[in-house]
Amino acid sequence: MIIRAVLYCHILLISTAVGGNGKTRKDWQDDPKGARCLTGYMTDLQSWVDENGQLTPYVDINAAIDMSNRPSVARTLEQELSGLKSPRPQHIRYMSLARCSLTRVPSVFQLKDNHGRRLADTLEFLTLYGNNFGILDPYIEMYDAELNATDAQELSVSDQSRRRILTTWSAGFHMHPMRTLKELDLRECSIQVLGDYTFQRMPELRKLYLSENYIHFIESYAFDSMKSLKHLDLSKNYAYDENGNLADLVFESNNVFSYLKLESLDFSFTRLGQRNLGIFTGLDKHFKRLSLCYSAIGRLRNGTFNSTSLKVLDVSGNADVICTPGILRGIEKTLEVLYADNVSLKNMEGFMNFTHLKILKLSNNEINTVPANVAKTLADLQILDLDNNRMMSWSNSTFSLMPKLKLLSLKNNNINIISREMYNDIKQLSFLGLSGNFLVCNCHARDMFEVASNNELLFNSTYFKGFGEDTEEPKLAFHSGFKDFNNVIRERRNITTFCEEREACDVEFNHNVSGNYLLLDYADYSSQYRCLQVSEGKSIDLYNVPSCTASNKDMGSMEEQILESWDKYLLLLLPTILLPFLLCVYVFRKNFKYFLITIRNSATLSLINKNDSSDDGTIFHYDVFVSYCNEDREWVLDNLLSHVEKDCNVSVCLHERDFQVGLSILENIVSCMDRSRMIMLIISKRFLLSQWCQFEMHLAQHRLLETRREDLILVLLEEIPRRLRPNTLHYLMLTKTYIVWPQEESERSIFWRRMKKSLVTHKLKSTENVSLA
Ligand SMILES: *[C@@H]1O[C@H](CO)[C@@H](O)[C@H](O)[C@H]1NC(C)=O
Ligand SMILES: *[C@@H]1O[C@H](CO)[C@@H](O)[C@H](O)[C@H]1NC(C)=O
Repeated sequence: MIIRAVLYCHILLISTAVGGNGKTRKDWQDDPKGARCLTGYMTDLQSWVDENGQLTPYVDINAAIDMSNRPSVARTLEQELSGLKSPRPQHIRYMSLARCSLTRVPSVFQLKDNHGRRLADTLEFLTLYGNNFGILDPYIEMYDAELNATDAQELSVSDQSRRRILTTWSAGFHMHPMRTLKELDLRECSIQVLGDYTFQRMPELRKLYLSENYIHFIESYAFDSMKSLKHLDLSKNYAYDENGNLADLVFESNNVFSYLKLESLDFSFTRLGQRNLGIFTGLDKHFKRLSLCYSAIGRLRNGTFNSTSLKVLDVSGNADVICTPGILRGIEKTLEVLYADNVSLKNMEGFMNFTHLKILKLSNNEINTVPANVAKTLADLQILDLDNNRMMSWSNSTFSLMPKLKLLSLKNNNINIISREMYNDIKQLSFLGLSGNFLVCNCHARDMFEVASNNELLFNSTYFKGFGEDTEEPKLAFHSGFKDFNNVIRERRNITTFCEEREACDVEFNHNVSGNYLLLDYADYSSQYRCLQVSEGKSIDLYNVPSCTASNKDMGSMEEQILESWDKYLLLLLPTILLPFLLCVYVFRKNFKYFLITIRNSATLSLINKNDSSDDGTIFHYDVFVSYCNEDREWVLDNLLSHVEKDCNVSVCLHERDFQVGLSILENIVSCMDRSRMIMLIISKRFLLSQWCQFEMHLAQHRLLETRREDLILVLLEEIPRRLRPNTLHYLMLTKTYIVWPQEESERSIFWRRMKKSLVTHKLKSTENVSLA
């Protein structure tokens, strides 16, 4: 029966309508976050077959048969094997039956070559990529109906028998034992169910690739007898439930892996769901690599991997998967590579004592600091990727505590100022990424840049070129994280060539700076490695900022200027700021350091307009300055202005409306702030995403400190959960009044009443202050 089906397979070209639901198979490739996961795609890991199932030129042509894209495989294969003119010098080890429109595995492995050797006895590498094993074959259905003697016309199939039908695709594997088969490629075969004992007669199989199928059910003994199986790829399997929603993969039993000696499992982009966490407890000490990236796994449980020796783990794209404190305890002595991109991670406390960790990729999270007590324990860490987090300037040794750290990426964070400590803290790195931070120009930022351009000039040939890749098991050749980062290094742009191209910067050797690193991401001229020149309120290239050793002090080191004016500053600060400040220090003892940084940043910012800082005699032109981000402009113009200006009789300064010609934007904002009695910040999630608005918030806080005013009103257009609040905002919310814009139309009159009240009381208070002074 099955052989008949094989012979007729070319007329059974049934269109592939399985599980489609209008979604295409390649959905994950359109996903912008769908970059490759740590374990890589099959064709990253081996060299014998390409992405379309054809054998590659690396394969010995005398030991290979490539039948890909051919119709009626069984017959042509027989001809091919017998019709060869000269006997093949070698037995056949490689075979491709890719995209032959097969609806089940053909029983061709008993065919003999012209030495009389069975394919089943010599094949080591077999691909069946791109066939269609998922259809409910009418032959099989008929066969089933015939079997049912009692009620032959009943054709509706129950779930269980449907499942049984869906596993018959693999019958061809059972005809002959395939004792030599080492790798089997079943990508894109529309497989839906893995039945018991499917691969039972392949005792030597080491790698099994089942990615890009529709597998939704795996029976208890699906992998029975696979004593040699090391790598199992179940990535990119889609399954849909009756309603057309993506469904979780179902394992009949949690022990499905427990009789194997698996080393590596890939579930990337396959929906596992939390109830399947139990399957990992069946893994043993052989187990080293796991990708769960984008697998909807939910939170891990304590000790999930305790029975394994996990070295390489990818949990990216699963919200909160490792957010429970201490959730990775148990593997801290084995884990070497962790990818946890986009998992809503808020801090790094959980990585304490991960002494073997070499690569830590934590991009797209909510981390704002690397605690020194954790950094100290990461003795082996070579690569730390913190792109797209909330990292702020830091004030004491952090990255220098990790003796082996070579690559640090801090792209798109909230770092505003490069301090002397930071400059010293990163000296020993080999590669640094800092683009996309809203830097304020100072000489340390320039020196940081200078180190990198010096090194471009110096170390051209002998410089550290990249990481050694994992050579431990060259035969298994797993994709390694080092490979990913070596690619980043390979693709980086050299500062000097970039400068030459543009004839823009004159890179010269500067003996007064020292450090080992190159910039990883000096690529896009328009936005990166520029800084805000506060005295002019515009951004300039870092190489146009004077170095700390340059004689020109006018534009030079801000910090030195601060030191010079420190005495004066201190006197100014002492009575009004220092006492409340000490009180704050007491209240927020834990975050004292943050306060120090804020104060210092404020001090740096105070050099803006330092010559005309307002004193008590200032006559305010406006009652309130409103700071908002562009996206909330409509709300300000439509709602706020009409209510506040008309109803409350309050004059509002909007930097865009009350613009003074001839001043830069920043100067306009500062001047607007200084000419207004109160400052009102309109805060929304979008406001917090905008670097510029964040900067305005820093600025507002600083102006308040400097001009000794209390008059800040916070308006929250939506609730901002604590995890989204930058510290500046958090403290402002603790210490100042804030009003939340209600979503309910009916509650808005209360909002306006509160707004009016606080505007009027502030106005009265500050007029009194002025008149008293
Ligand atoms: C035969 O059909 C009857 C009625 O549909 C069903 O209950 C029974 O399980 C079937 N038997 C087999 C062997 O499929
Ligand atoms: C880390 O190791 C130190 C010393 O071995 C130990 O005292 C500390 O409790 C450990 N911390 C964690 C979080 O495991």
